[in-house]
Amino acid sequence: MRKQIVAGNWKMNNDLAQTEALITELKKWTKTSDASIMVAPTFTNLWQAYQSLKDTHIEVIAQNMHFAKNGAYTGEISATMLKSVGVETVILGHSERREYFNETDELLAKKVDAALENEMTVIFCFGEVLADRKSNNHEKVVESQIKNALFHLKAWDFKRIILAYEPVWAIGTGETASPEQAQDMHAFVRKTLADKYGYEIANSVSILYGGSVKPNNAQEIFSKPDVDGGLIGGAALNAEDFFAIVNAF
Ligand code: 13P
Repeated sequence: MRKQIVAGNWKMNNDLAQTEALITELKKWTKTSDASIMVAPTFTNLWQAYQSLKDTHIEVIAQNMHFAKNGAYTGEISATMLKSVGVETVILGHSERREYFNETDELLAKKVDAALENEMTVIFCFGEVLADRKSNNHEKVVESQIKNALFHLKAWDFKRIILAYEPVWAIGTGETASPEQAQDMHAFVRKTLADKYGYEIANSVSILYGGSVKPNNAQEIFSKPDVDGGLIGGAALNAEDFFAIVNAF
């Protein structure tokens, strides 16, 4: 059985006091689904969040990292630094990193390697922009994002890879991919993985959907056979909404 996961990507929101307040709220809610829960605060609040959540069922994860071990990379954070504050999982390839920080597939391949070398788990994001969807190129775009950043990996590396399909046109826009659009893309991605690594691997990898997931649409999206959970932005900033999504399974 594939792992079901709901991860909250807090993006560049919440200072330390707000992070503590949100965590206090999160701790009041009970999980009634089997889904694993993760939250990704900003770098400056990881240690505090880890301390507050380490004895709970909520894992603290990071939103990004650099590929180098250390060195002259002003403003960057390495895998070993993340691990030193209790972080074992990192989101890589988010469309906001690709768009605003020019992260390419080639760079992401290096980041994935660095995370895996440090025995971290990666939530690897990919997804097409609206123009790709309109011109019916969405599968081609997604296929090349995945192939370029991940297909140099060995089959066993996929034990530490979680995929997240985030159509850029659905992020923060209130416009969600329909459950059918999500399912179609997830099935396509699984087939792409299977063609390269075989169905045993492809069927073991969790594929999350992200893009305007809310309490009122989560259940329908999560009911699709190839959707194994969600990567949640805006709705993850509210504990009640976030847990409504966690419990939508
Ligand atoms: P929204 O849920 O706000 O659309 O954001 C999705 C996302 O980018 C999660 O990484």
